[in-house]
Amino acid sequence: MAPQAKVLALLSLLAVCLVAPASALPAPAKQRRQSIIALAQAQVTAFRPYTHYASAGYCQPAATVAWNCGANCQANPSFVPVASGGDGDETQFWFVGYDPALGEVIVSHQGTDTSEILPLLEDADIIQESLDSGLFPGVSSSIKAHSGFAGSQKRSASGVLSAVNTAISKFGASKVTLTGHSLGAAIALLDAVYLHLHLPQTTVKFIGYGLPRVGNQEFANYVDSLPISVTHINNKEDIVPILPGRFLGFHHTSGEVHIVDTGAWLSCPGQDNTSDECIVGDVPNIFEGDESDHDGPYDGIEMGC
Ligand SMILES: *[C@@H]1O[C@H](CO)[C@@H](O)[C@H](O)[C@H]1NC(C)=O
Repeated sequence: MAPQAKVLALLSLLAVCLVAPASALPAPAKQRRQSIIALAQAQVTAFRPYTHYASAGYCQPAATVAWNCGANCQANPSFVPVASGGDGDETQFWFVGYDPALGEVIVSHQGTDTSEILPLLEDADIIQESLDSGLFPGVSSSIKAHSGFAGSQKRSASGVLSAVNTAISKFGASKVTLTGHSLGAAIALLDAVYLHLHLPQTTVKFIGYGLPRVGNQEFANYVDSLPISVTHINNKEDIVPILPGRFLGFHHTSGEVHIVDTGAWLSCPGQDNTSDECIVGDVPNIFEGDESDHDGPYDGIEMGC
């Protein structure tokens, strides 16, 4: 063995020795928390208001600001709209308002259909960029996101923040929940970090549907380290959540809920859990996925206005 190889071998042995005792520690409570478990029916049902808010994100701003967007608006009848924006072209639609039944300010972003989002995710030259230091002050430049998603979030950021501020003071709210489907979920996840940084006193929650991978490993770890509740719900064999590929340096945050073929909603611990009960294991490549699962149904609700 060459001296250098010997040093490397010693170093890796050392690493194993250093890591082994910690991982060998019995942690029954932690293991219980970490198993893949099915949500109870009441927990699944509790997502319905957010699923309708994510779906309403596809509606025209004129309809969401008047809260007359049809079935998705009628499903949350007590919602009080505050502001809506976007043009559905360069800037995805968004709306902000207050849900008195939930006691939460709601922010929703429009998604895209599969044919529009796939080119954004499958391009081999996907660029990652550090988060804008004006919008994300103090965040390390090693934390990177898909530049298309970062650009989309940037375009609506100030409008969303000012509407959330208005809603907080008008309704005396202390909780903000961000939602969206597909590209809308990616924007909403970046918004969750952004709002947490600008409104550190508020309780921030993210509930996304069909979320693609938004950033690099440092981004996923950073989001996991924040006091933000993150849930991303993946339907069956949807291919969007497995894109962009991990081999391109993209990683999911924790918080996956996977709807399996039986219709059960399984909570998958960790980032990119490779169990075949979770989406990374269930859809090992795009050929085993099904594009038509992207829009739902999520507990009977199809995404779209
Ligand atoms: C996936 O879930 C299992 C529970 O069945 C857990 O033991 C494992 O640590 C998880 N994997 C990751 C990568 O978190």
